[in-house]
This record gives sequence, structure tokens and C-alpha cells, in this order.
Amino acid sequence: MKQDMIVILDLGSTENTTIARQIRDLGVYSEIHPHDITVGELKNLENVKGIILNGGENRVVDGKAVDIDPALYQCGYPMMAIDHPTAKCERTEDALPSEENLKAFVFDVCQALANWNMKNFIEDQVELIRKQVGGRKVLLALSGGVDSSVVAAMLIKAIGQQLVCVHVNHGLMRKNESESVVEVFKNQLHANLIYVDAVERFLGKLEGVADPEQKRKIIGGEFIRVFEEEARKLEGIDFLGQGTIYPDIIESGTKTAKMVKSHHNVGGLPEDLKFELVEPLKQLFKDEVRACGLELGLPESMVYRQPFPGPGLGVRCLGAITRDRLEAVRESDAILREEFERAGLNKKVWQYFTVVPDFKSVGVKNNARCFDYMVIIRAINTVDAMSATVERVDWDVLERITERILAEVGNVCRVCYDMSPKPPATIEFE
Ligand code: XMP
Repeated sequence: MKQDMIVILDLGSTENTTIARQIRDLGVYSEIHPHDITVGELKNLENVKGIILNGGENRVVDGKAVDIDPALYQCGYPMMAIDHPTAKCERTEDALPSEENLKAFVFDVCQALANWNMKNFIEDQVELIRKQVGGRKVLLALSGGVDSSVVAAMLIKAIGQQLVCVHVNHGLMRKNESESVVEVFKNQLHANLIYVDAVERFLGKLEGVADPEQKRKIIGGEFIRVFEEEARKLEGIDFLGQGTIYPDIIESGTKTAKMVKSHHNVGGLPEDLKFELVEPLKQLFKDEVRACGLELGLPESMVYRQPFPGPGLGVRCLGAITRDRLEAVRESDAILREEFERAGLNKKVWQYFTVVPDFKSVGVKNNARCFDYMVIIRAINTVDAMSATVERVDWDVLERITERILAEVGNVCRVCYDMSPKPPATIEFE
């Protein structure tokens, strides 16, 4: 292993991730481990230079005291306990060490080297993946999203043709999205990529289904079935690659932190298709995943992609999906993205997209009455997607987008801008 590491033992403080970030910002790698880690497990981690105990001894979580194995105190690693007056209650806002203290501990006491960078991280992961996988094969569902793309690039670097990527085009992708997955991974990185055109299958299943939850269930369920069918056709696959990242693990709840939400694995696969997981990004924060992707040579457009829901344009073509409205969503979204990029808004705005409702409104085209669809533009900013504010898009930019949508997208006679913050509106419409 190339990198020194500071281990943070999780005594339930909500500040652990912040401290891990602070240490990584100092150029030293840091991982959070459960408080009940054994001496043996700790010794198995390579290059540990020191331990931080955050929350103090005898921390009380849900009425129960938690503490580390006393044997750990005798292990010989330098230890820093961040104790604070509120250690016995759930609030921990004063549990952050000052940068000076942290630096003194990490560099002077632990003598850790600032050798945490993406190059070293990638080399370490490549080595670990090769050790784990050996000569066997890994299967990966490659959606084209940031996480799955970076995992794919990492696995290609580590094991090349032993990686089998499956890209399912469910017909709800954005314009040119599936094409760019094929271009980048098959043509440029020469991945072993299976492209599954499941457009008709998905649209068939979705026909006439208007309820948003029902739509999501069909899309999610069908995705797993298509992936499973492809997996069954392949032979000798033992591993499943996954784009799990650090926040997924933290949000799933550690032993001492409360669960925020359950983590969605590709958990729906049947029992007889049990794979061992390969999760090379599970220690990275989102911005580190992006940096890793760039270091692995992925294009910026892929690495800085805005969030895109799993059910794709399916939840933006409101109500029962029809092909003409789906096309209107896809084309208007492409125009919006082009114009936001031209205006430099793609780097500034967190998420932006269009939706098409399932009703028509009256308009006039070529001096005649028409009855056509409406495109709604949504552009929001948020930190954690739990709440969001509306971007104040420049009027000229909005006018230009409107003109282009009205001129270039068929069956549309009206363009609106959504002014609603979250709450009460959600970011997506369905
Ligand atoms: P809402 O609409 O709940 O969205 O305010 C919050 C964020 O989550 C994204 N989103 C999804 N992402 N699968 C996903 O992977 C989904 O089913 C899904 N629904 C919403 C949404 O785009 C926004 O960024």
C-alpha cells in the first residue's frame, strides 16, 4: 500500500466524516472504522499511523455506553481522543479538533506522510482488485452515471477483459447517453461491453401506466430482470462490481450512527446469482470519485455529470408515457443542456432538466389553432437534495431556450419555468 492512514474509531459522533475529510485535506488518507474493531482487524489494515477516538470514552448512544476494546489502548499506535463536554448526549457539534491540533497529531505525533493522492489511491486499488479477483471475472451494470463509470474505468485498468460490463438502454436515457457509454467504454477504453437494447421491452411494460410509484417499480424491477437475464447467459462470473461510495455506507448507518436511509444495492438479484462484491470506490467521497475518474482518463462531461434519477426520463414524461412526449422531453432536455453549457450555467447549477405534462394546451401555429404539449424547465440548487432553491436564470438565456424548444421540438406550443422550491415541491415531478 502506498498511503499512510489515520483510523477514526466510530463512537457515534456525527462529525467523523468531517474529521476524515479534514485529514484527507491535509493529504493524509483516513478511514472510519467501527468502535468494536479488534486488535487483529486493526493490525490487518496496512500503514496505520495513528488512531482518533472521537466522542470520548463511555459515549452514550441510545442509552447504552459504547467504548472500544481496551486492548486497543495497548497496541502501540498513537491515539488522540477528542473529548468534549457534551460527550454523554447526542449533540457533538464541538467535537471537531482545530486544524492546528489535527496537524500536530497527524504529522508530529504519528509521523504520517502526506501521500494521499488519486494516483496512489488508484495504484492501491488496482493492486487490491487484482488480489481479490485473481484470474476470475467481474460483472458490472454500467449505467453511464458517475459512480458506475468510474468503477468501470478502474476495473478496466486493473483486470481489462476480465470485466464484463452490461449497459441496459431502457429507452429513458437522455439524448446520446447510451451512445456515449458505448463510445467511451467500447471504442476508447476497449471494454468488454454488452449493450442491451431493451427500449421496446420497457416502453411496452410502461404502456398506459400513469401512477408514478407504479412506473418506478416497473422500471426498477424490469432493470433487474434484464440484467439477470444477461448475467445468466454469461459463464464463470464470480464477482459483481459496484459503484458504492462512502456516503452510501455512512447513510446506511454505522453501528453507532442512526440509519438515515437504506442503501440500494443491486440487491434484487436472486439467491442463485450470488456474487462477491468488488467496491473500489467505497472509501471515496463524491468529489474524490470525480477526481479519480479524471485521473483514470474519463471525459469531464462524464465525470461532472449532474445527478440523473434511475428511472430516467420516465419520471419526467409525466403520467402514462407516450413516445411523442418522451421525444419532446429528450429533445428539450438536450436543448436546455446545450444552452446552459453555452451560458456557463452547467458548472453553476446543481440540477436542471425539462418535463412534459400529459395534457395539451391551445396555441396558434402558422395562423391556425393548434393543440399541443407544454415543456416545463426546472433548474435548482441544493447541497444535499433534501431541500432546494430555484436558480434565477438570466431572462435572455430563458428566452433563447424557449425559442429553440418552440422551433425545434415537435408538438410543443408552450414553455414554462418552474419557480417552486423544495419543499413543498420535490426536485423531480414524480
Ligand atoms: P426529489 O424529487 O425526491 O429528488 O426531490 C431528489 C434527488 O434525487 C434524484 N432522484 C432519484 N435518483 N433514483 C435515483 O437514483 C430515483 O428514483 C430518484 N428520484 C429522484 C433527483 O433527480 C434529485 O437529484
